[in-house]
Amino acid sequence: MQRARHGRTTETHSPNGAPTGRARQRAVMIAALPAGDDLSELQELLRTAGVAVVGQEVQHRETPHPNTYVGPGKLQEIKQRIKELDANVVAADDELSPRQERNLEKELGVAVVDRTAVILDIFAGHANTAEGKLQVELAQLEYNLARMRGLWTHLERLGAGIGTRGPGESQIETDRRLARDRIAALKRKLADVKGSRATMRAERERAHLPEIALAGYTNAGKSTLLNALTGAEVGVRDRLFHTLDPTTRSLEIGGRRYLLTDTVGFIRKLPHQLVDAFGATLEETRLADLVLHVVDASAPEEELEEMLRAVDDVLEEIGAGERPRLLVLNKADLLDEERRRELGFRHPGAALVSAHTGEGLDELRDLVEEEFRRTLREIDVLLPYAEGGRLAELHDIAGDLEREDTAEGVRVRAQVPATVAERFAAYSA
Ligand code: GTP
Repeated sequence: MQRARHGRTTETHSPNGAPTGRARQRAVMIAALPAGDDLSELQELLRTAGVAVVGQEVQHRETPHPNTYVGPGKLQEIKQRIKELDANVVAADDELSPRQERNLEKELGVAVVDRTAVILDIFAGHANTAEGKLQVELAQLEYNLARMRGLWTHLERLGAGIGTRGPGESQIETDRRLARDRIAALKRKLADVKGSRATMRAERERAHLPEIALAGYTNAGKSTLLNALTGAEVGVRDRLFHTLDPTTRSLEIGGRRYLLTDTVGFIRKLPHQLVDAFGATLEETRLADLVLHVVDASAPEEELEEMLRAVDDVLEEIGAGERPRLLVLNKADLLDEERRRELGFRHPGAALVSAHTGEGLDELRDLVEEEFRRTLREIDVLLPYAEGGRLAELHDIAGDLEREDTAEGVRVRAQVPATVAERFAAYSA
């Protein structure tokens, strides 16, 4: 995962996914925290990026040291640990300033990466669509421009033909210019891609199918839930951020069709470059008729609350804070009776489900239907036989409907969204 040279590691894995042999990158995690020493999330991020974690060092302090992130004494301890554990990477739990990063590398003599770099690296490895790839590359370039390192990966990929040795001063100038040109080009391309996405969206809107977006902390089980509800085959892996591009599938509840979209997993301290970069992807959430907020209910209470808050914050930040929302407590199969009762008490109105066993999915479907029913209007129309297309459209949108064949045409009574009711007003019986 070492950002300076490679996009990703080449660590080997056994068939069950466990690292085999000695990992090429062995990291010591470091953190400056006011209290506590839980770095399990950074560890999970590193694991996803293919880096083995061999130790951790936490310094308790109110704010990180401006020059070296941790204080001078701690720095020496970390240096010692690196030697003992034969580590070759240090990973910080926060985004480091370019100065902190430079100083740490000089002091410690090994590569230093921060949380942002790790997340960007994972995103780079997981983006599938053209848009996702462009967005990640843009975010990485903008992050690297401030640090002027690690550009080699991008330039190599571009086939710019520049060597892989460390850059000299004039090289850095050239890099800066190349990076800025590339950023401008990427922004132009993204604007084009966004244009075609808007066209696709307009087509979907014309179909007037209600849209549901799955949002949630990374690893909550969104993709698994999408699969369980729609029978779709979306990649599911016990790795963070497996889903980077939204995947939309159609779903039928009570005869009515809905569009269900999986979105990128959220995370605490999501690098701001990525919030910007994924604005378009997260747009699916912003424009959804209903947001299903999925959470891993098997997490301890405190962590659960933090994950809920992190997602709420991002939803707020991208302007989706006002969308109708339904909380889905997933992984119910891992809960005992007592925890189930407690969750029911703390989150009344939430759906308790297991995407694995299928438990609670019928209730979830009912809740979704109920949510939409509240926004529906009843229409009673007479469609001339010549307008067969209109009838098919109503069948699609309304699901269950009452129809009666008469001499003048088909009389239909159905529950439809308000916008559709307006379009059919001309046919009122
Ligand atoms: P990101 O792509 O990181 O946003 O993750 P996601 O929210 O899409 O999660 P995903 O569906 O990939 O599931 C993450 C892990 O949780 C996988 O190992 C799943 O098998 C597991 N998982 C999902 N649902 C359940 C469930 O109901 N019960 C249990 N026990 N595990 C589940």
